Amino acid sequence: MFESIDHVGVAVEDLEAAVALYSGTFGMPVQHRETVAEQGVEAVLLGVGDGHVELLAPLGEDTPVGKFLARKGPGIHHTAYRCADVATAIEQCRSRGLRLIDEQPRRGIRDSLVAFVHPASTGGVLTELVQPAEGGH
Ligand code: CO
Repeated sequence: MFESIDHVGVAVEDLEAAVALYSGTFGMPVQHRETVAEQGVEAVLLGVGDGHVELLAPLGEDTPVGKFLARKGPGIHHTAYRCADVATAIEQCRSRGLRLIDEQPRRGIRDSLVAFVHPASTGGVLTELVQPAEGGH
């Protein structure tokens, strides 16, 4: 069902400090930066091998990541798996009894198509299915 780990999403309070850690200290190149208003986040994507770390800073307290930070503090927010076809992966998750947050693919960072699986059905790990945009990882 999954091809690889696409990225690990990390919720942060201070985006510039987090970029300094991952880019400056860990030496990962910043590959993309985007404000995704509909998801209430500013995101920075850094490369490591064939995968990424996705830093997520909330645009406000009343956003999913804002609420996550208030509840749990900074840390790992989700794991994202790369899929050739996210609609197929959604159907496979549904048929295998998983609870979906997104019944239909929606637009993610860098024009990817994504869907989230509810952590209540995945052992507490918010799980993202990602189909990268054509030609891009
Ligand atoms: Co993600």
